[in-house]
Amino acid sequence: MLTLEGVGKTYANGVHALDAVNLSVGPGEIVAIVGGSGCGKSTLLRAISGLDTPSQGRVLLDGEKVTKPHEKIGIIFQEPRLLPWLTVAGNVGFGLEDRPKAERDARVAEALTRVGLSEKANMWPRELSGGQAQRVAIARALVPRPEVLLLDEPFSALDAFTRVDLQDHLLGLWADTRPILILVTHDVDEAVVLADRIMVMRPRPGRIFDEIAADLPRPRERQSSAFDRVRRHVMAALDRSLKPVAPSDANEAAAFWW
Ligand SMILES: Nc1ncnc2c1ncn2[C@@H]1O[C@H](COP(=O)(O)OP(=O)(O)OP(=O)(O)O)[C@@H](O)[C@H]1O
Ligand SMILES: [Mg+2]
Repeated sequence: MLTLEGVGKTYANGVHALDAVNLSVGPGEIVAIVGGSGCGKSTLLRAISGLDTPSQGRVLLDGEKVTKPHEKIGIIFQEPRLLPWLTVAGNVGFGLEDRPKAERDARVAEALTRVGLSEKANMWPRELSGGQAQRVAIARALVPRPEVLLLDEPFSALDAFTRVDLQDHLLGLWADTRPILILVTHDVDEAVVLADRIMVMRPRPGRIFDEIAADLPRPRERQSSAFDRVRRHVMAALDRSLKPVAPSDANEAAAFWW
């Protein structure tokens, strides 16, 4: 269980990027975070990951406070950030160095098969396309079997076809060990395809504005009317989240707009 209790962040320059975010995410749950640029999505992920310390509140993983990068919490960024001096297999196995070689090799091979890159195991990162490199990054993040995987716009630099392909690969890998996934995305369809719950954030200071359940059976049919219903619900909430509202009026305004 991942729990955020009143997590806030004010940067050294005085920017109040996050205000009192409360969130509980159960095992295996997939949560998407959407919201306008600058509303604090990356700040929130960095606070959860332990890369950054909240100014207020705390992040707990199974009751234990997260204060620094944690072996049970993986993170994937917008760009793959592969280590250029390691092969594809070396990158995927990077987090398994304490394991016996046979186990490491087997898990790396399995993960590469899952993302459709087994024939690229001995290539170098510079020889991969953007989509292939991001698949390697996904495999690398999931191979140590984290309890939580954080993804900050992981597919936004890719074309639409590659993005859909990677969403499928991500779900395939997720199904193996069912970690908590928290995905920041600008793509509403991506949020509805992947998530159980979609959190809409609002800026200045960043906070959770609305929460929408995406209670659709999997695999999800993008053309279905149920999918479209959730998509329209998220779009409407995003639209409202971008309207200027004085912070003290936010609750009344949310009630009004409904
Ligand atoms: N290291 C930092 N120092 C000071 N201010 C920062 C820092 N990082 C982010 N901010 C500010 O905090 C606010 C939230 O930024 P954040 O990067 O979390 O937004 P975001 O929702 O991820 O935006 P985007 O969708 O553009 O990625 C912004 O006003 C930003 O300028
Ligand atoms: Mg961001």
